[in-house]
Amino acid sequence: MPKRDILVTNALPYANGPIHLGHLLGYIQADIWVRFQRMQGHTVHYICADDAHGTGIMLSAEKAGISPETLIEGVRQEHHRDFAGFHVDFDIYYSSHSEENRELSSYIYQRLQEADRIATRSITQLFDPEKNLFLADRFIKGQCPKCKAEDQYGDNCEVCSSTYAATDLINPHSTISGATPVLKESEHYFFRLPEFTTFLKDWTRSGTLVPAVANKLAEWLDGGLQEWDISRDAPYFGFEIPDAPGKYFYVWLDAPIGYMASFRKLCDEKGIDFDAYWSTGAETELWHFIGKDIINFHALFWPAMLSTAGFRTPSFISVNGFLSINGQKMSKSRGTFITAETWKAHLNPEYLRYYFAAKLGSTPDDQDLNLEDFVLRVNSDLVGKVVNIASRCAGFINRNFQNRLSAVDAEPGLTAEFQDAAAEIASLYDQREFSKAMRAIMALADKANAWIAEKQPWVLSKADPQSPEVQQICGTGLKLFRLLVIYLKPVLPQLALQSESFLNCDPLQWADAEKSPGEHVINTFQPLISRVDPKAVEAMLEASSGSMGKKSDSVAQDAPLAKDPVSEEIEFPDFAKVDLRVVKIINAEHVEGADKLLKLTLDLGLDAQGNAVQRTVFSGIKSAYKPQELIGKLTVMVANLKARKMKFGLSEGMILAAGDGKDIYLMAPHDGAVPGTRVT
Ligand code: MSP
Ligand code: ZN
Repeated sequence: MPKRDILVTNALPYANGPIHLGHLLGYIQADIWVRFQRMQGHTVHYICADDAHGTGIMLSAEKAGISPETLIEGVRQEHHRDFAGFHVDFDIYYSSHSEENRELSSYIYQRLQEADRIATRSITQLFDPEKNLFLADRFIKGQCPKCKAEDQYGDNCEVCSSTYAATDLINPHSTISGATPVLKESEHYFFRLPEFTTFLKDWTRSGTLVPAVANKLAEWLDGGLQEWDISRDAPYFGFEIPDAPGKYFYVWLDAPIGYMASFRKLCDEKGIDFDAYWSTGAETELWHFIGKDIINFHALFWPAMLSTAGFRTPSFISVNGFLSINGQKMSKSRGTFITAETWKAHLNPEYLRYYFAAKLGSTPDDQDLNLEDFVLRVNSDLVGKVVNIASRCAGFINRNFQNRLSAVDAEPGLTAEFQDAAAEIASLYDQREFSKAMRAIMALADKANAWIAEKQPWVLSKADPQSPEVQQICGTGLKLFRLLVIYLKPVLPQLALQSESFLNCDPLQWADAEKSPGEHVINTFQPLISRVDPKAVEAMLEASSGSMGKKSDSVAQDAPLAKDPVSEEIEFPDFAKVDLRVVKIINAEHVEGADKLLKLTLDLGLDAQGNAVQRTVFSGIKSAYKPQELIGKLTVMVANLKARKMKFGLSEGMILAAGDGKDIYLMAPHDGAVPGTRVT
């Protein structure tokens, strides 16, 4: 088998929200494929990053009172943690807001300029005169011009489904400031995409896409391509266009270049040859895994840009469909907006990996996570079939045969059948036909279970606990289990790790399926995976509706806090993590340039050595309190909140106040409380 060198990417998630189960579908798909290729002995570099640019991120940071850089770094770490929690194991998880990306984006843009593929012209757009900001459609709302429904976005009506231009809305307003938008002209930069029509018609049919995706693209290609607007006016969080002050690259221009930039960083760290993966004619493979909503960016703009700038184009673009939950679109109000974090708090991430694998194929079909089906599937396949083989056989070997497996195969025909299946299962994995692979593996597991049931080692063991036949049957059972573990390892890396330790063997590779372990000493069996408890699923749904109720999508308007539903229930240990202390405000002052903040110096009493402990906290209470009236007052602070770098300095905690954004009331202990006392 010729050795392959593959660079694999996943779409770069936006740095403005948590990773949810919908995201995970495509990331788990790619990770399974990567793990499989590595088990085959191929070289794979698997990379990702956060997509950190755009107006949305700029506004979110502003609202949080922090710099966009601080915001995106925090989110990047959360995203990376969430992926790792689901065993999605990138070699690097970088950010599109990097020096490498700035350089590569400028470089590619300049090549496009030199090739005369960039046009400039003035366009007229809606502009927020209060925020001094051009407004994308999703930042404009008004009355639908067709059905007159209120509160519709600038591009389409959710009531009557009609599409229109934002300028057609009746009584439009900016969702950012509430101001009535005005029309304003400005110069924009365009990528001349229509000139690539012939190239793209060929490229999309050259084996780089499954037919279903190529057909979708043919609709656009046949309908006529439009020039692509790649510039945005300041203020914008992104990269400034070279020689065009005040103009920024549209986030989607530098986002895919972020793949290259992330890889560039990895190459610099690990000494990998960047050009071997990106230069024209490279013999390596480049695979992008993406969701179906971003096909045009990857299969039209991207190959056109790459080829013009003198780089190779992707070998393959794998597209996943959209995930729904219990047949419904993921929705915060229905409690089906399930984040990676919430799932992990209640359920084993490997259960989800298996469920996705059992559903995924190579075509971009939408998938449904039906939670009842999920419980049945995981319990019946993983617990009832696979792990059952080990738990049925291990006890006899552990108890009666000093952990020793016999070299004798009790059923060579069955072993051979299991081994022969390796090639077919490998080919299914390679073609991303995971659901077919899972079916083939479970059919084998059924055979192993049926064979053990027929041999009844427990009956033989009762008659003679030392019977060599029992040792042979159970040893054979465990060797069949070992083969199933090899086949499932790309999907269930954690289960594989535990099984390797139980089987007392080196990390299993695909080629190990051909080998027979012979006589071998194993370790004591420990339960590998437990049944899914439907109660845990309920608790997870409960947590999803509770915690999401309070987060709002909109960066513009916060619902008054008083209307918030009560948050997700927490256990006492969760509450106990919050270190609340009585503190005395020993200084309070205005912060130059901040409209909401006061800078407070807090006295937390004395530490164990008798030293005075003080903290500086920036608090958004300026509208309600004058600095002078605060000095000397007692309040309560969260003392163990991680310090946050804010625009005006480091905030080392938070003081407690109640409020709905307008009125603010500082919390205070009753008279006589001493600074430093912990609230319990
Ligand atoms: N930032 C862009 C991608 C830039 S790639 C150069 C983006 N980000 S995203 O956060 O919205 O989506 C990240 C990935 O998750 C995309 O592949 C997207 O298609 C996928 N999904 C987002 N929601 C999804 C579902 N509900 N179901 C399946 N995949 C989904 O797009
Ligand atoms: Zn309408």
